Amino acid sequence: MSDLIILCKAEDVKEEAPLAVNPDGFPGLAVYLHEDEYFVSDNLCTHGMAMLTDGYQDGDEIECPFHGGAFSIKTGEATSFPCQIPIKTYPVSVVDGNICISAA
Ligand code: FES
Repeated sequence: MSDLIILCKAEDVKEEAPLAVNPDGFPGLAVYLHEDEYFVSDNLCTHGMAMLTDGYQDGDEIECPFHGGAFSIKTGEATSFPCQIPIKTYPVSVVDGNICISAA
């Protein structure tokens, strides 16, 4: 089993209010809560220099604050123009109340 990186406490992530985290060795990440499940993606929009955590979470989608493109927080798929390139998503574990991703 690979090592886990702790990103934040689960209680710090609220529905519709994604949290920006900056773990060593990773690009900036966004942590989301949706229907009691946690999701993690890259925070940088693939269309420009916008942080998705500055945008608007609507259910299982995150809308970019710059041009209104959007992505699925579950799969990273681009769901709304002008976004076309998916964002990277990461498998999430919740360990002792902490949101974690794999270090590998
Ligand atoms: S920078 Fe995100 S939609 Fe353009």
